[in-house]
This record gives sequence, structure tokens and C-alpha cells, in this order.
Amino acid sequence: MAGHVIEVKDLVKRYGDLKAVDGTNFHVDKGEVFSILGPNGAGKTTTVEIMECLRKPTSGTINVLGFDVAKEAREIRKKVGILPQEFNTYDLLTVRENIDYFGAMFDRRIPTQELLDAVNLNEKEDVFYKNLSGGLKQRVGVAIAMVNDPEIIFLDEPTTGLDPKARREVWDIIRDLKKRGKTVILTTHYMEEAEILSDRLAIMNDGKFIAYDTPRAIIKEHGYGTLCVIKSGSRAVADMLKAQGLNCELKENDVHCWMQNKADLQIIFRQLESSGAYYDEVLVKRSSLEDVFLRLTGRHLVEEV
Ligand SMILES: Nc1ncnc2c1ncn2[C@@H]1O[C@H](COP(=O)(O)OP(=O)(O)OP(=O)(O)O)[C@@H](O)[C@H]1O
Ligand SMILES: [Mg+2]
Repeated sequence: MAGHVIEVKDLVKRYGDLKAVDGTNFHVDKGEVFSILGPNGAGKTTTVEIMECLRKPTSGTINVLGFDVAKEAREIRKKVGILPQEFNTYDLLTVRENIDYFGAMFDRRIPTQELLDAVNLNEKEDVFYKNLSGGLKQRVGVAIAMVNDPEIIFLDEPTTGLDPKARREVWDIIRDLKKRGKTVILTTHYMEEAEILSDRLAIMNDGKFIAYDTPRAIIKEHGYGTLCVIKSGSRAVADMLKAQGLNCELKENDVHCWMQNKADLQIIFRQLESSGAYYDEVLVKRSSLEDVFLRLTGRHLVEEV
């Protein structure tokens, strides 16, 4: 397996006539954060739940930690941790009782106290699950996913619906899992999250991986490089910059200039200064995974929270 903790070959999953996963091939390296980024219905949960042995593939070979999902699900289940999408647990058990309850199912387990420390829930250990905020509930879910000291942890949209602060707290826990040497498989709608946290990622759309690499390599391959936006620029500004050899276009009320090299920025400012042309502000931005998604599919992923 050469360091690969998961290997997936030609995975197909059909639900009746629908091909929810359409021939994906990928691997996950030991100790990495690997994300599957995609819109609703892309096939993310189907893919991860097949690796978790919760759904059966229609065809393909899936090997997790050296075991075949078709024949050795019991071995795999002992060694993985799962935070399902829309996780929920017992409302009328406290945080500590919920963790104890799931811990009792495994021979090999991490003590509850250590898990409370890991997800920073010490102060809430005696609170009923139903009385926790969304972000704290997700942290209980991560603690439960860690209870059997798994080698691989699957987190299916752990931050969907959380406010920005709670999302960042979940990000810290994911970083901590990586520091502990765990392999993390994350699914998300949020490009920013995938870009910041992942060592490698796949962009999934309509059952297919349309990009698969490190965030940097994906952006380099499919992005537009660096873009300078002159807000409230005019056609005259666009034409003036084009005359200087720049690659510019008027888009709605903004002038977009795709930078070919760093000197382009100096030309832009010199021209704006000398012409006295009106503009509101100038933004310089690198292309992001959102731009890549838009370019590859013609659609936007969900807006960032
Ligand atoms: N058990 C099922 N039976 C029939 N169709 C299903 C089933 N599970 C998923 N699907 C369909 O398969 C497609 C992929 O669903 P899946 O849940 O894997 O996507 P997802 O990327 O996780 O979406 P989301 O971001 O909304 O969670 C969708 O069209 C979905 O409606
Ligand atoms: Mg899903």
C-alpha cells in the first residue's frame, strides 16, 4: 500500500437509475487531511459511507487499512471513527454519559477524560446534550468518533450550519487530530475550509472527481492566477490599460485585469494616477477553489458563512 491507508479503484454506486458515484479512483495517505469538496448531492456522503462500510458499492475495489470493505468490514470498523452528517446523540444523557456510552462498545478505548480534554468540553461534561449549542454538539460527535482511538477519522460536513467562531473551533480540533497522527477524511461545502485544512482534496460534482491534488496544485492548474479588480472602473479605464498590453475586460462595473507578471500592477497604478480616472478601490486577489469550481462546472458552490 506504500503509505496509503485507503485505496479506491473504479468506485461506482447506483441508486436505481441514478449513478451517485461514477467511477472514482483515489487514495488517502497516512496522516493527511483529505477532503472531498462538493455541492449538495455530489456524492460525498455516499463515497465516505462506502469507505466506512455503511453502504455497499455497486462495483469497484475499496481497501481501508489493508482490509477489503466487501469482506473485512468488522476489522475496518474497529479501526475507524465516524462523525456522520447531521450527527445526533442521546438528548437526555450528559456530555460525559454520551461519551461513556459509546466508549463501552469498544475493547480498545480512550478514557472519557482524555476525550473531554481533546475537544475542550471539560466545562460542559455535566450538561445534557440537548442543551448544547450546535458547535458544542459537533465537538461531542468528534469525541465519540475518537472513542476507539481510530487510525482514520471520517468527518462528514462537521461545520455545516455552524457560525464562523464554532467552525474555527472545529478546524482547531481537526488540526489537533492531524498532530496526533490521525488520518482525517473531511467532507465540506466550504472552499475556504478545504483550502485551509487539506493536505490534498478532491472536488466532486455529479458523482465524479473533477479535480484531485493539493489545494495549491489544483488552483495552479485550473485557476486564473492573480486578478486585479478596479472597482467602479469605466470602459475608458479598461481600454487605456489594454492599450498598455494588459489583459483587461470590463465586467459589470468593474475592470478585471488578469496579471501576467508583477510589473502589471505598476502599470495599472501609473495609468490610473496619470489619467486621473475615477475608481472606488483596487483589489488584488489570487484565484481560489471557488473560482476553480466555477470554471470547471459553470456553477457557484454555496456562499461562505
Ligand atoms: N439511499 C439513497 N437512495 C437513493 N438515492 C440516494 C440515497 N442516498 C443518496 N442518494 C442520492 O445520491 C446522490 C448523492 O447523495 P449524497 O448524499 O452522497 O451526496 P452529498 O454530496 O453527501 O450531498 P450533501 O452535501 O447534500 O450531503 C443524491 O442525488 C442523493 O439524492
Ligand atoms: Mg452528504
